[in-house]
Amino acid sequence: MPGAVEEFLRRDPSVERSTSRHAAQDIELGGVPIPRGSLVVVALGSAGRDAPRAGDAADTGPAVLDVTRPGACHLALGHGIHYCVGGPLARLAAAIALRVLPARVPKLELAVPADSLERIGSGIIRGVLSLPVRYRVG
Ligand code: HEM
Repeated sequence: MPGAVEEFLRRDPSVERSTSRHAAQDIELGGVPIPRGSLVVVALGSAGRDAPRAGDAADTGPAVLDVTRPGACHLALGHGIHYCVGGPLARLAAAIALRVLPARVPKLELAVPADSLERIGSGIIRGVLSLPVRYRVG
């Protein structure tokens, strides 16, 4: 389960972009000069799907959801001084929910086609506007 939670955070993070930063000094990042004072916004979700690393085959690349992936690498909870203070709580809640929900509601399934789900369009927070499900009691 810990590996699955990390992989879900990597593959489909719920925060798309960081809050705004300003470069404290001239820097160069990946060949791009960033002058002092520039507004910098980090595409957190994109970082988790960076170009495949050497040795990644097409079926193990970053677009593939693989809960057995060793050490899923992501920025879904930020990085550095503003790293999410709720990270441990979020990880724990997700692990409990993912374990308990299928056990208590075994026939839980999507009630609509997955590609018809409407996404939140905030540009910062990612998710679906609603998630219709159906299940059988007993
Ligand atoms: C899956 C759930 C969560 C995700 C994906 C998430 C994601 C993030 C990210 C990406 C940042 C950094 C934003 C940036 O650098 O601009 C952040 C910061 C923060 N998060 Fe979360 N978060 C989650 C849950 C929570 C929870 C449960 C709490 C509180 C109980 C929380 C409280 C905070 C606070 C206070 C900050 C700001 C920290 C700072 O600026 O120093 N988060 N979160």
